[in-house]
Amino acid sequence: MSSILIRGGTVVNADQAFKADVLTQDGRIVAVGPDLQAPAGAQVVDAGGQYVMPGGIDPHTHMQLPFMGTTTMDDFFTGTAAGLAGGTTSIIDFVIPNPQQSLMEAYQTWRGWAEKSASDYGFHVAVTWWDESVKRDMGTLVQQEGVNSFKHFMAYKNAIMCDDETLVNSFSRALELGAMPTVHAENGELVFLLQQQVLDRGITGPEGHPLSRPPVVEGEAANRAIAIAEVLNVPIYIVHVSCIESAEAIARARARGQRVYGEVLAGHLTIDDSVYRHPDFATAAAHVMSPPFRPKAHQEALWRGLQSGNLHTTATDHCTFCASQKGAGQDNFAKIPNGCGGVEERMAVVWDEGVNTGRLTPSEFVAVTSANAAKLFNLYPQKGSVSVGADADLVVWDPTGSKTLSAKTQFSKGDFNVFEGRTVTGIPSHTLSQGKLVFVQGDLRAQRGVGRYVKRPAFNANFTASKLRADVTAQTAVKR
Ligand code: URP
Ligand code: ZN
Ligand code: ZN
Ligand code: ZN
Repeated sequence: MSSILIRGGTVVNADQAFKADVLTQDGRIVAVGPDLQAPAGAQVVDAGGQYVMPGGIDPHTHMQLPFMGTTTMDDFFTGTAAGLAGGTTSIIDFVIPNPQQSLMEAYQTWRGWAEKSASDYGFHVAVTWWDESVKRDMGTLVQQEGVNSFKHFMAYKNAIMCDDETLVNSFSRALELGAMPTVHAENGELVFLLQQQVLDRGITGPEGHPLSRPPVVEGEAANRAIAIAEVLNVPIYIVHVSCIESAEAIARARARGQRVYGEVLAGHLTIDDSVYRHPDFATAAAHVMSPPFRPKAHQEALWRGLQSGNLHTTATDHCTFCASQKGAGQDNFAKIPNGCGGVEERMAVVWDEGVNTGRLTPSEFVAVTSANAAKLFNLYPQKGSVSVGADADLVVWDPTGSKTLSAKTQFSKGDFNVFEGRTVTGIPSHTLSQGKLVFVQGDLRAQRGVGRYVKRPAFNANFTASKLRADVTAQTAVKR
């Protein structure tokens, strides 16, 4: 029996905030209320003056990802441990099969890699090609393995890019199965063409990266994916929305009543495209990720998307490469491995730039850092809620605590931090994972291999409603 009493804090859920103690026992929350008594042997955490919130869910990470000829620095242990240090207690990572590789085989490989995780985790599975075996494996993944979301890369031509035929086939199958299709929205054909044109103009450095991936390229793909989802009557989730064009595509579709959901990265909310013109190659290359960081006006649009409810989740796309790995693109920006970190910093950066600026309330912060992801991917209220019966994945948040983010002090592996030098106010003092104190005032006590794979059932409420709507509005033939 292990029990922790978190005493004297303000519990923040997505719907309300209230003063209460929280008692956990054997990995679950067993009581939330005033003046709870500590059972014999319970540890007591003093949360006076602090918030007690659901641990963060990062719905977009890539730990130990083999990508662009190399493998990310953070594996499932170091990456999830870094998450715990930042108040994130669950990740949803991605199984990415090579084209022609069986989905089940790739899924088993990633499950093996993830056994070293320090926090709970789940998987989206990418559909990178199509045949009858892919269709069958999608069924097995949903019905037996608790996968309720499939990812589609509309970029990365000659690698993992999906064509429209695969999108249509996979979205249709996802609807049958009650699983959420998700897309990386960038027109891969245009990116491929623009990369050649930019290189032909003699621009080979990282400043070529954003030039080859302008916002309109993202907007086109977002609009196309949304249109396909509309025709098929399936909900859709767009990952790493980085620009006005795709945020507006989502807002327009939602105004028409379509179930479209958008994710924003902490980096896209706070970092602009000037980084690519840094005179030091390593610094500029360290920011190469797709979609790229955008001019400042886009950041404000992304915040407004979160404020208005047209964008729903915050994530990181945590995908870390060190300077020597990024150096593969020394003479050609298109060969720089794409990806940046953030799993450790997301919560603090979103709090500091979101709550401390009045853009978000603490409850809205909980919505966009955990509860909405839990709802969309059918983990709620097991995750994303401070309530009796929920997993004791919690963060005690000190709104006055302050920290300067840096590669020198990060737990995440790697030699770079895209938030370097940023001082944030509002940081975790304690993180609980499965009812255990895994981070206490700067002391990380993450344990390798204790994280659990979390099954996510299909058919959340959005699907049931979308299916019903399709039936109610079904076309009919004229009887003659
Ligand atoms: O640049 C990125 N985002 N790398 C990871 C793969 C992806 O596109 O999500
Ligand atoms: Zn992506
Ligand atoms: Zn990604
Ligand atoms: Zn290295």
